[in-house]
Amino acid sequence: MTTNERLSKVYDAEQFRFIGKELIDVLANHLNDLQHQKEKTVYPNNSPEEELHFWQNDLEEKANPIATLTTLLNRSQQTQHPKYMGHQTAVPAPISALTSLVTNLINNSTGVYEMGPASNAMERVITDFTAKKVGYDIFSSGIMTSGGSLANLTALLAARKDKAPNNVWEEGHNEKLAVLVSEEAHYCIERAAKIIGLGDKGIIKVPVDSNFKIRTDLLPQYLEKAKADGLHVFCVIGCAGSTATGSYDNLNALAEFSKAHNLWLHVDGAHGGAVVFSKKYKSLTRGMEKADSVVIDFHKMLMTPVLSTALLFKEGNKVYRTFAQRAQYLWDSPETEEWYNSAKRTFECSKPFLSAQVYLILKTHGTDIFEKNVNQLYDSAKLMAQLVKNKPEFELTHEPESNIVNFRYVPHKKMSLNKLNILNADIRRRLVASGSFYIVQTTIADQLTLRCSVMNPLTSRKDFIELLNEIEKQAVSILDAAPMLI
Ligand SMILES: Cc1ncc(COP(=O)(O)O)c(C=O)c1O
Repeated sequence: MTTNERLSKVYDAEQFRFIGKELIDVLANHLNDLQHQKEKTVYPNNSPEEELHFWQNDLEEKANPIATLTTLLNRSQQTQHPKYMGHQTAVPAPISALTSLVTNLINNSTGVYEMGPASNAMERVITDFTAKKVGYDIFSSGIMTSGGSLANLTALLAARKDKAPNNVWEEGHNEKLAVLVSEEAHYCIERAAKIIGLGDKGIIKVPVDSNFKIRTDLLPQYLEKAKADGLHVFCVIGCAGSTATGSYDNLNALAEFSKAHNLWLHVDGAHGGAVVFSKKYKSLTRGMEKADSVVIDFHKMLMTPVLSTALLFKEGNKVYRTFAQRAQYLWDSPETEEWYNSAKRTFECSKPFLSAQVYLILKTHGTDIFEKNVNQLYDSAKLMAQLVKNKPEFELTHEPESNIVNFRYVPHKKMSLNKLNILNADIRRRLVASGSFYIVQTTIADQLTLRCSVMNPLTSRKDFIELLNEIEKQAVSILDAAPMLI
């Protein structure tokens, strides 16, 4: 075959139709098998080396794309399985996957209007819709970014632009700047602070209370201490909610403190900001509407595939100043506020069509579907917590405020912390190796806990009961084999 013939084949529409039709059947069957648990394995549990070896060998093997894609399906983490209760990754609504197929094929890169007319307009619709749910008024505006980490970084840059004593973007740092944040904040906040050059001293971690919420009573003394150390604090960051426990900081108190000290208030609602869509749970984010900026991930509790994040600004015009920069080939005037040229306000130049999945979910399933999903996930977590409490050998680490449930297997109260940590880590290792469930673990105040994020609205009471029974079974077999652990 000539080069031209080969390249024509790459783009052949009929081949696309043929493979696409078959692929949809494969995916629908896969989804059905997972949802009805005919397929039992949630996680294939191959070691990284095994997996690498497999794909290294596979590359040179002849196979049609359907066979390869089926293998890929079966060797992956099955987030669509009701017994997936691991990290905070959404169970994507199938319509969002179909939408991704379309947005990937057209490949509009969104940064400038002409490279993404529908994309830029839809992005505006989705960010306006979400900003209204937060409680922002018409002066707010938003952008979409590839993920919460990037959105948090962008928010810190906007905060620095607005509150730092000099124009750091153009002049570099003249003063030592700092942010105040809960010690339970996601690691991307510290990373963002480091990226913008704040160093170790520039990220001031404030302790949390027994409910894992930032101690707002300590803020004045932490601010004073920072000043005494020669630091200029420009931003306070609230968690809504935190990653390990899903706890919501008192945003009203943070807003009051920020206002009193002329600080930017940023709220990391990457995970729990989704409750703004729920009448039942929205009160957890009371005060969020006073924040200068808010991040909400759609790819956590709002049913889209990774990545799709809204970064919202209370005063929409402020974000244009963040990246004021000349790029003649993209736009004529860096100063003009043009919502439709998304790259003016975000780090990304080429940017995926991030809003279409959200738009299609809302349009297909109703604009109240996020509310239904969030309510279901939060209610389910409360149910699971109750089931944990009903079992004498289990200990609930904290009452869940969100869909994150942390607990431990505690065969008897006198067991040492170290032994309990070993036991619970081993339980999780065995559970994951069995493939029957996927849960994760975290460490809270030196205690290793089993951690479930209830992400799938189809996960039922029966699944929770089976999980706890399976944990019990694994624990008994570990203790039978190693009685010295007790
Ligand atoms: C509270 C919080 N903030 C930020 C992030 C990072 O978001 P992303 O994974 O979208 O970059 C996470 C991820 O789990 C998170 O839980």
